[in-house]
Amino acid sequence: MEGRVHIFDHPLIQHKLSIMRDVNTGTKEFRELLDEISMLMVYEITRDLPTEEIEVETPVARMKTRVLAGRPIGIIPILRAGLGMVDGIQRLIPNAKVGHIGLYRDPLTLQPVEYYCKLPADAEQRFLFVLDPMLATGGSASAAISFIKQRNCHNISLVNLIAAPEGIKRIQNDHPDVDIYVAALDEKLNEHGYIVPGLGDAGDRLFGTK
Ligand code: PRP
Ligand code: URA
Repeated sequence: MEGRVHIFDHPLIQHKLSIMRDVNTGTKEFRELLDEISMLMVYEITRDLPTEEIEVETPVARMKTRVLAGRPIGIIPILRAGLGMVDGIQRLIPNAKVGHIGLYRDPLTLQPVEYYCKLPADAEQRFLFVLDPMLATGGSASAAISFIKQRNCHNISLVNLIAAPEGIKRIQNDHPDVDIYVAALDEKLNEHGYIVPGLGDAGDRLFGTK
């Protein structure tokens, strides 16, 4: 079985992503848009979370109503660019705990190199969202998910802004149990492993490092 791929075609998400793609969009706007899209994506992703009935006393009457139930949520940005997705999600889910995985893609081999991993102590009890704006070859996301699984965590979803078909295939092959949520599925990778048309280097555009 392959992990399901969910593509968000919400007009607000598509509009904001189009502005992010534009080479003339600067760091400040890029950062704000990534934050907003991440929040909108997680609103959609959490649509089917379980709820349970509770009773509350309003100023007028006692009533039965619903609150979130089941596993709490953890979010795990892949450094660096995944950091840009954290705040928007935490604004909607303030109790989400945050783990960090430091990986960079060697520009020559395109292989992921790990430099940091710190997960919440109770990560195995949580629904975990792995965050990275770009799913290119899929090497970084696949390695990150493997690290997380080594720590006995198995309720994992991957959240990307833009994916290439190669990255989707890689995750479906390496981690068929993982659902993938993307705002756009682009055409291909170029010879440098960049997504075409994509948006360029997400980390550099987010942090203004180039
Ligand atoms: C980018 C991006 C992903 C990775 C995707 O990070 O944020 O982590 O590349 O490529 P892949 O699917 O082929 O592995 P990069 O390595 O540039 O590091 P950075 O976020 O620190 O800039
Ligand atoms: N990493 C990026 O930041 N952009 C790409 O297009 C591919 C990998």
